[in-house]
Amino acid sequence: MSRTPAPPRPDFDAALQEIAARVQPLLGQGQVASYIPELAGVPRERFGMAIVGIGGEVWEVGHARERFSIQSISKLFALLKALQHEGDALWERVGREPSGTPFNSLVQLEHEGGKPRNPFINAGALAVTDVLCTRHVQPETALVELLRKLADNPGIDYSLRVAQSERRHSDRNAAMAHFMRSFGRLHNPVDRILDAYCSHCAIEMSCVDLARSMLLLANHGELPWSGERLLTPSLSKRLNALMLTCGTYDAAGDFAFRVGLPAKSGVGGGIVALIPNLCGICVWSPGLDANGNSLAGVAALEWLTTLTGRSIF
Ligand code: DON
Repeated sequence: MSRTPAPPRPDFDAALQEIAARVQPLLGQGQVASYIPELAGVPRERFGMAIVGIGGEVWEVGHARERFSIQSISKLFALLKALQHEGDALWERVGREPSGTPFNSLVQLEHEGGKPRNPFINAGALAVTDVLCTRHVQPETALVELLRKLADNPGIDYSLRVAQSERRHSDRNAAMAHFMRSFGRLHNPVDRILDAYCSHCAIEMSCVDLARSMLLLANHGELPWSGERLLTPSLSKRLNALMLTCGTYDAAGDFAFRVGLPAKSGVGGGIVALIPNLCGICVWSPGLDANGNSLAGVAALEWLTTLTGRSIF
């Protein structure tokens, strides 16, 4: 029986050059996340994009090697770590449905017994961080170590300045955490959870680092360069499904419609994505749209899947 031949490898070099040209009019548009004062000074017109293939090939354009604050992208890796510890028991603590509300909203918590809708909104990430605080003496370094491994880069760390800057302005997340704790849903002191959460958000990585970190999930839970398995294929599938449905907050439907890839965004302007069996992707541009997703970043990913004809659909 004849098999359908694998589609030819996309020419990512040509696609990235085309995207970098098309994205120019968008750079400088949108808002930077000034509610974290240390992030307010990041130049809005920066743009970088990187793709790392399962075989280790790197394609990049623009400021792809400049480190930026990964912010909510850390929620993906915190979830990965919490699932490694807790398995399915984690779903007693946090749901897995899209929220349809902004990432920092409190409204659903009151009606839903303090259980956050999903692990990628702030409330959900606080519940996940609570698990990490129980499991680790130093949850801050636990996540940094995981990312050093996934990015194959021992130089990765978090910025104490950014972490402290957010921590000093974390009234909303603190309110959320106290509210959840009043339902008995957090087990550690709120201050400890917020310290760890802000440090995770303040981890700094480049597009190349983050694209490489996504290879685990593009390769069904196995690091392609060493063959080390960190997740079962089923858990890897579930993380990808959650990214698709919840990774870009209340814009997840529009993002799936336009881009068609599992992805996770952060208010530092980064978005990670992946094409299963092929590559990890990261784009960075600090100007954000009204949902808190990188404005140029979403457009760049939409062009990538359009120009290469590759998406999960
Ligand atoms: O807690 C916060 O508000 C930020 N440290 C992270 C929010 C974020 O990145 C949402 N992403 N779009």
